[in-house]
Amino acid sequence: MDDWLTVEDLRKSARQRVPGFLFDYIESGSWAETTLAANRSAFTDWRLRQRVAVDVETRDLSTFVLGQKRPLPFGLSPVGMLGLFHADGEIAAARAAAAFDIPFVLSTMSICSIEDVARIAAEPFWFQLYVMRDRNFTHGLMDRAAACGCDTLVLTLDLQIMGQRHRDRRNRLGASPMTPRQLFQVATHPRWALGMSRTPRRSFGNIVGHVAGLDARASLAEWTARQFDPSLDWDDVRRLRDRWKGKLVLKGILDVDDAERAVACGAEALVVSNHGGRQLDGAPSSLEALQAIVASVKDRLEVFFDGGVRSGQDAVKALCLGARAVFLGRPMAYGVGAGGQSGVERMIEILRTELDLSMALMGQTSVAGLDRSALLGPAAAPVRQYTVG
Ligand SMILES: Cc1cc2nc3c(=O)[nH]c(=O)nc-3n(C[C@H](O)[C@H](O)[C@H](O)COP(=O)(O)O)c2cc1C
Repeated sequence: MDDWLTVEDLRKSARQRVPGFLFDYIESGSWAETTLAANRSAFTDWRLRQRVAVDVETRDLSTFVLGQKRPLPFGLSPVGMLGLFHADGEIAAARAAAAFDIPFVLSTMSICSIEDVARIAAEPFWFQLYVMRDRNFTHGLMDRAAACGCDTLVLTLDLQIMGQRHRDRRNRLGASPMTPRQLFQVATHPRWALGMSRTPRRSFGNIVGHVAGLDARASLAEWTARQFDPSLDWDDVRRLRDRWKGKLVLKGILDVDDAERAVACGAEALVVSNHGGRQLDGAPSSLEALQAIVASVKDRLEVFFDGGVRSGQDAVKALCLGARAVFLGRPMAYGVGAGGQSGVERMIEILRTELDLSMALMGQTSVAGLDRSALLGPAAAPVRQYTVG
């Protein structure tokens, strides 16, 4: 564990421990993966302003998220199939989030069910909803989440249709029975296989047992792919808003006009996100979209951010550009794959330390006080003059 000094260290550990076709599922973006790459490169366009001789002895990383004071400006994004990267991965991540008092968002496509996580969760967790064609099933998920004490629903809007991820197609992810190559990868990861053999949770816990006649892996993969509802529109979002009595967060907003609609339909928050570059390839990076959305919605709702954050220095940039909190997708998945709960705890610790020390070196003492003036932006880069001839 002392070897885990960076998120990249956790990524390397996860790559060793998790069978290749599952690790590829974490890593992949859609089509040519340009948006996936842009999510990372956007951070290098911004520089941190180094300020000196400022008293930074006392520093405060806390922030208010949906009206609740949290010690850190972080959250864990919903990630499907966490429980296949490590046995009971969702429970591990929920426990790690609770240890740091940050929000954990359970995916609709989790392996551990809402009820499994609720049984161990000391703190209320958030539930992420995909709207399925079968609206009774969709409403049932909402009711189950409410019954389990989830006070916040994260409604994902950027996956009405699945973006194609070539690596998953080539690996035949979801094939049943498993392909010889997948079986070989499982066999050559005995520690992972042993862990998985000890848990009963190996399929989509929120779905299996809740849809009549659905149990075999083949029919499950097919059912799921058919169920994402391409007809979802803002009237549906408003109806879901009326139905859900808790707080509503709209995830997958990348455009100012959609952010305005999120305000109009009464959401408490939105997440600027492009699904980690897994949906519309060619869309802007999350960081590029952030500033305009913050400027447009101002204080009418809270703006959260995810996409490409791999360090505290990345996180501080998103916070300076107006994010209320920064959510972590792949960094959490690497933590789960590397070591379950301890891997995710280490990931949060790494980011906390990097954020804290970077802020100190920037002469900044509180997350609440961060703004654009703490950065040197792309506009500050010298403009090169080219002359012809
Ligand atoms: C393996 C994987 C699975 C994901 N599953 C979901 C999901 O079930 N629901 C959802 O809303 N977003 C899902 N996402 C998107 C994340 O919530 C988040 O938006 C994205 O990972 C942020 O980018 P980052 O990975 O660079 O932090 C998934 C992302 C990954 C990498």
